[in-house]
Amino acid sequence: MSRTIESSAVRLVAAAPAHLDVDLLVIPVFEAEAIAASIAGLDAATAGEAARVIASGELRGRPYEFFFTPVTSGWKARRVALLGAGKAGEFTLDRLRKLAAAAALQARQKRIDRVAFLERGGLEAAGAVQAIADGLTLSLFSADQYKSGERLGPPPRELIVAVLQDRGTSLRDLEAAVDRGRVIGESCNLARALSNEPSNVLTPREFAERGARIGREAGLAVDVLDEQAIARLKMGLLLGVARGSAEPPRVIVLTHDPNGAPAAPVLALVGKGITFDTGGISIKPADGMERMKDDMAGGAAVICAMRAISLLRAPIKVIGVVPTTENMPGGKAVKPGDVLTGAGGKTVEVINTDAEGRLVLGDGLWYAQQLGATHLVDVATLTGACAVALGRAASGLFGTPEPWAQLVRETADRAGDRCWPMPLFEEYAEQLRSEIADMMNSGGRPAGACTAAMFLKEFTGGLPWAHFDVAGTAWAEDNKPFQPKGATGVAVRALTELAFAAGSRQ
Ligand code: BES
Ligand code: MN
Ligand code: ZN
Repeated sequence: MSRTIESSAVRLVAAAPAHLDVDLLVIPVFEAEAIAASIAGLDAATAGEAARVIASGELRGRPYEFFFTPVTSGWKARRVALLGAGKAGEFTLDRLRKLAAAAALQARQKRIDRVAFLERGGLEAAGAVQAIADGLTLSLFSADQYKSGERLGPPPRELIVAVLQDRGTSLRDLEAAVDRGRVIGESCNLARALSNEPSNVLTPREFAERGARIGREAGLAVDVLDEQAIARLKMGLLLGVARGSAEPPRVIVLTHDPNGAPAAPVLALVGKGITFDTGGISIKPADGMERMKDDMAGGAAVICAMRAISLLRAPIKVIGVVPTTENMPGGKAVKPGDVLTGAGGKTVEVINTDAEGRLVLGDGLWYAQQLGATHLVDVATLTGACAVALGRAASGLFGTPEPWAQLVRETADRAGDRCWPMPLFEEYAEQLRSEIADMMNSGGRPAGACTAAMFLKEFTGGLPWAHFDVAGTAWAEDNKPFQPKGATGVAVRALTELAFAAGSRQ
């Protein structure tokens, strides 16, 4: 892991651009902005290139356009990169984080050692500084640890968030915001690394060990339930899924219980931890099945958000619960038509063994309540249907009651984990009605994401609950300027910010 997540100093510097002693100074430029006029001394430092490149139309300020030019006089930086930032009126923290990530990734590819990213204003200062630090930190991730040949070079040694001296917020507050962005970016990188791991490496036992280590290092209380403890608790849904695998299941439990935390809310984060989903006896087609190594992305998001929640000292008690197993078609595997009994006593007729995520989450949600949760949020790569409905543009968000769902939705959107509200109509429960058990685990093709959520709702004991279906968002299929293809670390930001938002509004 230490080879995937390089450590690098991300820090704040408050100074005029002229004084930044770096190899590359990145300056965002909005569409139709005369950048030479906005930043005193820039044109002279670049021998007129800043004005020329805008006047000629070579740089139009479109998002992620880069223009590199040497500094010829006056400024301490060796080079300047003008970076298109899009329309000033459409500027958001999410855009800013992605611009910083794109800049740092460019610098890493070009083997540039010391990089500064200039905060241009227009957004609230602490939020902007956090977004830049977060984005710069994302460049520390690489997915090439299993390559023996050519690998991505080391990340820049110094990553600087540069602010002008009169930004209107105290330096201490801005430094805290840099720390916050760095911790969240690192936690996101850790989640990406876990999701990218192949399933022969990241077995349920290995996932539990790494989750425990991440938790301990962040100061969390750690408990890992092994197969005996799971059996004692009668988690028949998790055990049912695990039966087909030679690897034993685990439940990873991480607890953040700060001094002075109120009795409520107690937030529980529950993540789907299927380290590989073959579909079981209802086996998946071969094409694309390799992707199913990331079916624990929800669990990784929970573990890594718990890390950030602890390091950033969220004011409320938060419990992370990650049931983890493989879904395999072994000789003892659960078969279509089998009936399983969850720890809470609910019986489930397994119609399709590929609908395994909702089974393990059913026992996970039950256990979170045993541990005293008052509010529940789960994250799962749950249904292909959700990816069909929303594509890669947003996670599906289900929840009840409405004020809680809305708080989760707004917090996630603001944090940069875009989600879209999905319905929980009573009709969906009818699709799950079984002739012989309390319910079936599949409602067929219509509204597949909604019936899956409806299944989970049965395990929430009436508590406020929200469910992120991240099947379409956990994995990027294409390289983007701000993010290479592969695991995205979805929901780490949303869950982390929720631990702060839930405390202030309940
Ligand atoms: N892990 C899959 C969902 C998934 C599919 C995630 C594609 C990411 C990309 C989940 O366990 C699954 O197989 N769901 C089934 C449910 C069905 C059998 C009711 C699905 O979506 O087809
Ligand atoms: Mn499945
Ligand atoms: Zn699955």
